[in-house]
Amino acid sequence: MSAILDIRDLSVAWMTPSGPLHAVEDFSLSIAPGEIVGLVGESGSGKSTAMLAAIRALPAPGVITSGSVTFEDREVLSMDEAELRRLRWRGVSLVPQSALSALNPVLTIGAQIADTLYAHGQTDSIAARSEELMRLVEVDPIHLRSHPHQLSGGMRQRIAVALALALDPPMVIMDEPTTALDVVVERQILRRILALRAARGFSILFITHDLSLLMAFADRVAVLYAGRLVEVADSATIRAGGQHPYTQGLIRSIPRLHGDMSDVRGIPGAPPSLRSLPTGCRFHPRCSRATPDCAHAVPLLRPIGTAHDAACHLLEST
Ligand SMILES: Nc1ncnc2c1ncn2[C@@H]1O[C@H](COP(=O)(O)OP(=O)(O)OP(=O)(O)O)[C@@H](O)[C@H]1O
Ligand code: SF4
Ligand SMILES: [Mg+2]
Repeated sequence: MSAILDIRDLSVAWMTPSGPLHAVEDFSLSIAPGEIVGLVGESGSGKSTAMLAAIRALPAPGVITSGSVTFEDREVLSMDEAELRRLRWRGVSLVPQSALSALNPVLTIGAQIADTLYAHGQTDSIAARSEELMRLVEVDPIHLRSHPHQLSGGMRQRIAVALALALDPPMVIMDEPTTALDVVVERQILRRILALRAARGFSILFITHDLSLLMAFADRVAVLYAGRLVEVADSATIRAGGQHPYTQGLIRSIPRLHGDMSDVRGIPGAPPSLRSLPTGCRFHPRCSRATPDCAHAVPLLRPIGTAHDAACHLLEST
């Protein structure tokens, strides 16, 4: 299947007064129509930076330093403003990391949904369409008259999802859409998102730091460490333990609900700062399997099995 979104060797830097911070390097990921891909990594690993760059929504002082991104075979990095506006709503829409920042505090929910629909040329049946969108995400349409602060965090998050789906895009990027919510509300919203995806068939790129959540519903998982993808594989492969030492460490650190907890342990150390990135493999100071080579040569992401890529000197490429 050809990709709907294809990101190739994307590198992104934050141009700070003290010099460029290389937040994302050589990031390659493609998403097929209807596929759910999860992007997982610790806080600060570059998940939001990579995806905002891919849809050209990166704020200053972020700069794309190299790479290519195609959406439905059109190059995103050379689109003009009008093409970008179309892309962001009708092509790939974003549920941003904070639902609060997605909503305007001084406008009612109804006004914001109507604005979105008007801005993109929908002038008929705005009220009916707004009510339908509220029902889609299981919020009572009575709240079209509410302001964001009158709603719970879970309701605001659902409305951010409704806004992203307003124009029926073929792809949605969700940046930690449920992280701020309690587990029960998180699971309810996730179930709703999956039901909508099943009915409408859009692709999802789901960003989170919660690998156990992703393994439960994503088709494929991409693991990011300090700005570089270290492993991309289908969920079953990741559930079976993955191959990259960092993925394996993430899986070992997931607490279990049942059974033996004695082998649950975190990864020693902390992720590096962008101001002092390790040479060679960025994971080497924390990797129990590192060899002297690992501190010098950068391991590139390459195929190590069928639809399975990893970046580690110890893994044989296929
Ligand atoms: N405006 C900025 N200026 C400078 N550096 C930034 C800026 N925004 C983000 N960064 C840095 O870029 C790196 C990646 O940040 P990013 O927000 O993409 O990570 P993330 O994986 O999305 O983290 P989180 O899980 O906390 O959302 C971090 O080191 C962060 O400090
Ligand atoms: S390249 Fe070396 S340091 Fe990096 S994950 Fe593999 S073994 Fe560990
Ligand atoms: Mg983020």
